Amino acid sequence: MNCTMENLKLLEGVYQPSQGSSVDELASPALLVDLDGLQSNINRMMDLFKDTSVNVRPHMKTGKSSQIAALLKTSGATGVCVTKVSEAAVMFAGGIDDILITSPVAHAVTAWWLAMLLQRGAKIRIVLDSKETTDVLSSALKDAKVESMEVLIDINVGQNRTGVIPGQPALDLANYIAAKGNLAIKGCQGYEGHLQMMGDLDEKKRLNRIAMKQLVSTAELLRSAGHEIAVVTTGGTGTCRLCAEVAGVTEVQPGSFIFMDDTYARAIGSDNFNNALFVMATVVSRPAEDKVTIDAGWKSLSMDSGPAKPFNNAWTYQAAGDEHGYLTGDGVENLQIGERVLVVPSHIDTTVALHEVYYVMQAGKLVDIWPIEARGRVQ
Ligand SMILES: Cc1ncc(COP(=O)(O)O)c(C=O)c1O
Repeated sequence: MNCTMENLKLLEGVYQPSQGSSVDELASPALLVDLDGLQSNINRMMDLFKDTSVNVRPHMKTGKSSQIAALLKTSGATGVCVTKVSEAAVMFAGGIDDILITSPVAHAVTAWWLAMLLQRGAKIRIVLDSKETTDVLSSALKDAKVESMEVLIDINVGQNRTGVIPGQPALDLANYIAAKGNLAIKGCQGYEGHLQMMGDLDEKKRLNRIAMKQLVSTAELLRSAGHEIAVVTTGGTGTCRLCAEVAGVTEVQPGSFIFMDDTYARAIGSDNFNNALFVMATVVSRPAEDKVTIDAGWKSLSMDSGPAKPFNNAWTYQAAGDEHGYLTGDGVENLQIGERVLVVPSHIDTTVALHEVYYVMQAGKLVDIWPIEARGRVQ
């Protein structure tokens, strides 16, 4: 017998934690959201910009859930960002009606997918940074009989990942895009990803000013050539406040603030954003007096930013393979086999992408389970 979805469904209910369950009633490893911590992070971010003209469009590459997107929208977000077309599809299916794809699409298959979403009424914008991506998108829209699509010019402000060179090359691209007839330029994006984790605040401010100058002066150049540049979008959790101080920036797109992670918190200080995401694991064995093994390894805690951080500051976590990890440090000798422990991910985005659901906790009780619908959606 194959493990079909049908067969799996027959087993539903065998393990189904319900509202009011405690952490102890959940199978581990489990991805726990501290709902009050999440809401307080969202409120804090919205408060930072509430008396300004700068909009907040959070990046859902972090949360990957339409429920979190909806919570952000109810709390004042203008719309959301995603990186991939497949993530945009999730947001659209979840009722989110204002989506910016922050990376260009370079292949006809994905451009067609995007055109199909537009054909079905999705309000999606995308960034473009080359003639090639412009051609691919314009043709897909024509083939799908979608009259036009709104786009932003992606400007390289120093991260050197995507983006056209600021100034004249950006203007040349804007003219090329406008000549297509089915692409309507609405603004510019310039994401300074290389500065997010910079700890030296003075140096960060200096480099951020340079990056923002490139962005807003290019926006001005495009405007003076007759292009409509209503949106100038930029910034992540580590820079959004600095970006918003620059005249001409209309929108920020932070993502990590919703949960924070150990690497971000160490780089920029907790900055009144809480750790609101934990992996709950279980002690499964004791290989030595001063060391225990827990059931969370690379498959539940990402390692691209180094080892995760146990919630108990006296302990250290070290991965011990796909499914296991070690805890060492003061007090570990008192842990019992079967006992639960909390671990703070070192990188939330890549940890979230390993899990199927969020277990949403409040006052120690399970209040909801949110599917991570965009997990695995990397296309
Ligand atoms: C284009 C873009 N905007 C915004 C963000 C959000 O940044 P952060 O997670 O640092 O808040 C990212 C993150 O990688 C990004 O790629």
